[in-house]
Amino acid sequence: MSMRFVGRMVRMKMLRMSCVIFVILLLFLGALAALLPNPNEDGKMDARRAVPYSDQSTEEHFTLIMQTYNRTDLLLKMLNHYQAVPHISCIVVVWNNVGQDPPTDIWESLGPHPVPVFFKKQSVNLMRNRLQNFPEIKTQAVLMMDDDTLVSAHDVSFAFSVWQQFPGQIVGYVPRKHISSPSGIYSYGSFELQASEPGNGDFYSMILIGAAFFHRDFLRLFEDLPVSIHAMVDQTQNCDDIAMNFLVANHTGRASGVLVKPTDMRNLEKDAESGYTGMWHRAEHLLQRSYCLNKLVHIYGRMPLKYSRIMISQFGFPNHANHKSKV
Ligand SMILES: *[C@@H]1O[C@H](CO)[C@@H](O)[C@H](O)[C@H]1NC(C)=O
Ligand SMILES: *[C@@H]1O[C@H](CO)[C@@H](O)[C@H](O)[C@H]1NC(C)=O
Repeated sequence: MSMRFVGRMVRMKMLRMSCVIFVILLLFLGALAALLPNPNEDGKMDARRAVPYSDQSTEEHFTLIMQTYNRTDLLLKMLNHYQAVPHISCIVVVWNNVGQDPPTDIWESLGPHPVPVFFKKQSVNLMRNRLQNFPEIKTQAVLMMDDDTLVSAHDVSFAFSVWQQFPGQIVGYVPRKHISSPSGIYSYGSFELQASEPGNGDFYSMILIGAAFFHRDFLRLFEDLPVSIHAMVDQTQNCDDIAMNFLVANHTGRASGVLVKPTDMRNLEKDAESGYTGMWHRAEHLLQRSYCLNKLVHIYGRMPLKYSRIMISQFGFPNHANHKSKV
């Protein structure tokens, strides 16, 4: 055997060895790659988890609209609570603290959140700011909530399913009514307000929009209302919900609302650190609302509100509205 031949054998062996090592290395790297998360796949997973809210079906979701003024601590609690409620497409916060920035950074730092929140800074502090047809609304149903009202996730889901049966009406938890005096003057009140005719006062003609579902088309119709109605709401900084009930009743020729009895609904106003209390504590509140009723009847040229006794509850027997089930 010549030394040259041995040398070639050794070189060939070494070549074969390095081939084997190379293949093993390839297999090892392949196995490692399979174990490591694939960045592409991960991106797809993320995209799937957070379905863009615009891609959600507009029938199976709703948009929460919450107007707030000077109660940021309460607002953050509310946003936290409603994050867990199913079927919410997005939350539109109508930010009426003119000249102050919304707590976007605080909210984002507490994230990530499953439901997108849009803070809409307003240039004037108006009651009816919340009744705008915001471009963020992609769903047919809108849930409007006062920033101090907490309704359980279960009650929200139930009311949403009721709204799907009555999409042309305001479906909510707080009923009110009008009654007329013999002289044709209307007064405003709750269930306890007794009608002059015999029988009890257990009926309603309005559903407050501070805790209610309604169709987003009514936001557009509200924007198109006569200037005189907008002026009345702006002057009183009140009565936007009475105006909304008139709009719906006038538009449909039916009772404006459907009452759903909540099992767990709380008012957290006393928890607010700013101590800012809602306007319904003002003495003139009820008088102002009676004033609005009569003003609206004058503008419409008639009384479009109709009475209803329907009360839909999750537990118990079908029932008529009654003041013992106080809401
Ligand atoms: C009430 O409804 C009627 C009939 O649809 C309409 O012509 C009228 O403009 C409505 N009134 C107001 C104040 O929107
Ligand atoms: C807003 O809140 C602050 C405290 O957070 C309070 O000092 C101020 O009086 C409040 N303003 C109104 C108009 O309630």
